[in-house]
Amino acid sequence: MTCIVFGVSGGIAAYKAVEVVRRLAERGFDVRVVMTEHATRLVGPDTFRAVSGNPVSLRLFDAQGKDMEHISLARMADVVVVAPATANILAKMAHGLADDLLSTTLLATRAPVLVAPAMNREMYRHPATQENLRKLRERGVNVVGPESGPLACGEEGEGRMAEPPVVVEAVLRLLGMRGDLSGHRVLVTAGGTREPLDPVRFIGNRSSGKMGYALAETAKELGAEVILVSGPTQLQPPPGVERVMVETAEEMRREVLSRCGGCTVVAMAAAVADFTPSRRSGEKIKRAGREGLTVELVPTPDILGELRERKSPGQVLVGFAAETGDLLPRARKKMEDKGVDVLVANDVSRPGSGFDSDYNQAVILFRDGREMELDLMPKRELALRIWEAVAGLLGDRAVK
Ligand code: CTP
Repeated sequence: MTCIVFGVSGGIAAYKAVEVVRRLAERGFDVRVVMTEHATRLVGPDTFRAVSGNPVSLRLFDAQGKDMEHISLARMADVVVVAPATANILAKMAHGLADDLLSTTLLATRAPVLVAPAMNREMYRHPATQENLRKLRERGVNVVGPESGPLACGEEGEGRMAEPPVVVEAVLRLLGMRGDLSGHRVLVTAGGTREPLDPVRFIGNRSSGKMGYALAETAKELGAEVILVSGPTQLQPPPGVERVMVETAEEMRREVLSRCGGCTVVAMAAAVADFTPSRRSGEKIKRAGREGLTVELVPTPDILGELRERKSPGQVLVGFAAETGDLLPRARKKMEDKGVDVLVANDVSRPGSGFDSDYNQAVILFRDGREMELDLMPKRELALRIWEAVAGLLGDRAVK
């Protein structure tokens, strides 16, 4: 059985490590948790014992005389993970210090090592921490995260431990195993479309593209090959993702339909305009001599509808619904109308979520009637929850 020695050092993110250990144990790994003393103040060892199904190791010199445990743990490990990895444990690793069970095990092991740093952003940015991380990377240590977002200290910034599914994915990759979306080709649309009135004006919407970009980025991290069809946005393309820029609903339709064939998942996070001007003026519409201006709008093609028509067996379609009030009833209705497998609905009129925010609060509806109401969370985290839901549907029927 593959053995994962899982070090937990004393960061607030230790609570997230519980989730990582639970997921790894569920996959059938023999997970041996080693906690530093500070970590035990944040999460009780009994919690890790319960989720890993194994005793938790705490001290270098055990009262029962098992005092060569660092050597046995170091040898039995197929991989050693440290999550959260505080600035302190990273410094110890970089300098070869060994003054407790975890640091000693790390020095004694020859197994590959993965660390998930988590700390206050100033500590993360400090040249000492950066240098330690550089040294560790050079030495072959794998680093996952940290991410940006709200930190336990109340500040915002880089230093959040990578989310549990991302850490699990990194562990699997290190062990040469496939992750939840690996082998899948995923198409994500993002941002709002622009429908031109004349060469300088357009009808657009408030979509920032952040949700779609978070989906594309996390799908890549979960092992998928990702195509991102994006409306105009300032956002940078996520690393490793093939990005296709479009402007109008019609262009988005063309790019999506020509690429959706080989995809196991299509997630339509874009805010596609529902209407477009019936005529586009070749020249700038002049103000002079006009009492007013009436623009006739005609419906745009329903991309999701066309995707449903040509859906291949096993393909999962994810739709989004941006509503203003009455969320659940409207989402249920849209679920029926759109015939998607998963619908992610959010109320964009709620303060602190929706357009342009880094946060979102959504409800995920499944075709079989299941509904998941989620809390307000960073869009990246919501993206990971969506992929988890989608991976559950892909199962073995995926076109891998
Ligand atoms: N969508 C699409 N093609 C369109 C318009 C929307 O594929 N021309 C997709 C969106 O990307 C989203 C879903 O349909 O995944 C729902 O979009 P939304 O605008 O909320 O729904 P509509 O059906 O347009 O309903 P309404 O705007 O009336 O609420």
